[in-house]
Amino acid sequence: MGQITIDRAVKRFGDYTAIDHVSLDIEDGQFAVFVGPSGCGKSTLLRVITGLEDLSEGAIYIDGRDVSHVRPSERKLAMVFQSYALFPHISVRDNIAFGLKIAGESKDVIHTKVADAARILALSDYLDRKPRELSGGQRQRVAIGRAIVRNPTAFLFDEPLSNLDAALRVQMRLELFKLRKTLKTTMIYVTHDQVEAMTMADKIVVLNHGRVEQFATPLEIYDRPANTFVASFIGSPRMNFVDVVTTDETGLFFGDGNHLAIEKLRATPAGKAPSLLGVRPEHIAYSANAGFWRGVVSLEEQLGSDTFLYVDVASVGTLIVRGVGERSFRAGDTIFLTPPPARCHIFDGEGQRILTHAQADDSSKVHMNI
Ligand SMILES: Nc1ncnc2c1ncn2[C@@H]1O[C@H](COP(=O)(O)OP(=O)(O)OP(=O)(O)O)[C@@H](O)[C@H]1O
Ligand SMILES: [Mg+2]
Repeated sequence: MGQITIDRAVKRFGDYTAIDHVSLDIEDGQFAVFVGPSGCGKSTLLRVITGLEDLSEGAIYIDGRDVSHVRPSERKLAMVFQSYALFPHISVRDNIAFGLKIAGESKDVIHTKVADAARILALSDYLDRKPRELSGGQRQRVAIGRAIVRNPTAFLFDEPLSNLDAALRVQMRLELFKLRKTLKTTMIYVTHDQVEAMTMADKIVVLNHGRVEQFATPLEIYDRPANTFVASFIGSPRMNFVDVVTTDETGLFFGDGNHLAIEKLRATPAGKAPSLLGVRPEHIAYSANAGFWRGVVSLEEQLGSDTFLYVDVASVGTLIVRGVGERSFRAGDTIFLTPPPARCHIFDGEGQRILTHAQADDSSKVHMNI
């Protein structure tokens, strides 16, 4: 079992509130990923879960038991850090076995557990080497091996792959994915890497200034971001935002006088006036001849597979458009952009989501006046 509940957790360092009333329910066997800007409290939240930091307020429950005042060693959680913190002078085998030896396990138990962990992590051939004789990915696997042998209730990873190069990260990501399938243990994983978050998580926790902005599946977060912070944090390049100048019952008006008809707008809660339209670069349709907004390409970024066009639209702003395999537009060209209403997100003046394409699911009802 490895069900973790965080109940109104607060962590203060002096006057500074690093964790601000966080409540989360992480289910047994779930892979939860914490994302958020540097300093938002991801590591601190992991540390209060493990007990390396005391809570200022609130409680942590593991499988229903309040562990808020239980010592870290008794919480049965294993933490893997970005820096592997291996002992350089002893072998891989002894590094993996270290915690078991300290705990006074028998030689036989240690031997079996180390062998099992090494097999799962494809380290069997390296057990007699010293850490310096290993690659970065192999060292990281040793650090994970050290955690696995303790048979923890949950694994907590703090950016475990961020020291690795791009190719190794992909490989380790796949290995962690397999590991998770094999072990079926709860995992909490901190990363700055959106691809890791989107592909590995059952649920993503988006943190900002110590608060949870959204806790949802990766696709919910992508399709229905709770607010402009989440909308701009997940997705690359980030979502475009366009000011809504005014609205009527049928839709939105922009700075250039254009009107986008959105049928469902009538249903938005009273007092929640649309303030921003959000549309992702990959959802904007573009054409050389006709469309909703007329703009000029100010910059094109060719990535080979994708092209990002930066388009200046008078009285609206600069919009980024993603074209797959697009090669024809160049800086200075005129281009027409169309935000498909069924792919638009609408936010109020506080940046909270009012309406999203996934809610406007009866897309036959949304149409555009061009
Ligand atoms: N021991 C401490 N004393 C005082 N302030 C701290 C302490 N530990 C963390 N903080 C502050 O709490 C905030 C959250 O830090 P934390 O390390 O959790 O951020 P993070 O989200 O993990 O950032 P990063 O992505 O850079 O690792 C930061 O502003 C940090 O300066
Ligand atoms: Mg951190």
